[in-house]
Amino acid sequence: MADRWLIRPARVADAARIAPLERRCFGDPWSVAAFEEVLAFPLGIGLVAERDREIGGYLVARAVVGEGEIMNLAVAPEHRQVGLGRRLLEAGLEALRGRGVHQVHLEVREGNAAARALYRRQGFEPIGRRAGYYRNPVEDAIVLRLTLPGHA
Ligand SMILES: CC(C)(COP(=O)(O)OP(=O)(O)OC[C@H]1O[C@@H](n2cnc3c(N)ncnc32)[C@H](O)[C@@H]1OP(=O)(O)O)[C@@H](O)C(=O)NCCC(=O)NCCS
Repeated sequence: MADRWLIRPARVADAARIAPLERRCFGDPWSVAAFEEVLAFPLGIGLVAERDREIGGYLVARAVVGEGEIMNLAVAPEHRQVGLGRRLLEAGLEALRGRGVHQVHLEVREGNAAARALYRRQGFEPIGRRAGYYRNPVEDAIVLRLTLPGHA
């Protein structure tokens, strides 16, 4: 059940616990240092889903002059499809809105059906493609955009 998880802000010290989950979820994972950098960045936003000291998922974003970017989002394979990804995404969008963001962008692997369905349900629309953007395996990125409610 997704509601048993506490969604809380991520601290720099969480990077060492997020990175092992990242390695389980991606073929081209971020390093601990990459997480530390974005979590220390004043314009960065990090969230973790925690339960009994276990991190079940996380989201990393940034907000720069009204524009938001979801940089990374994942849920542990054993905790998927119970609504945790949606909760993290909604909390991330709320945090971006709180920073004055009106438009949010992200990139997603073309073949990532689960993530694309999650983002589509949240209202993201495809606006472009970056050829060969991803490594291991090489794949195009689809660029998605969401205009947050209340903004034209
Ligand atoms: C994408 C991901 C974060 C989704 O997390 P999740 O907790 O399983 O997602 P939820 O249970 O909240 O599902 C929310 C919606 O996503 C979509 N979805 C999730 N998993 C799906 C799947 N396997 N197939 C199709 N749609 C799926 C559905 O639209 C779902 O809504 P519904 O249950 O009302 O139909 C998770 O699959 C994941 O971590 N994948 C690996 C990392 C990744 O690809 N991250 C995104 C990078 S851009």
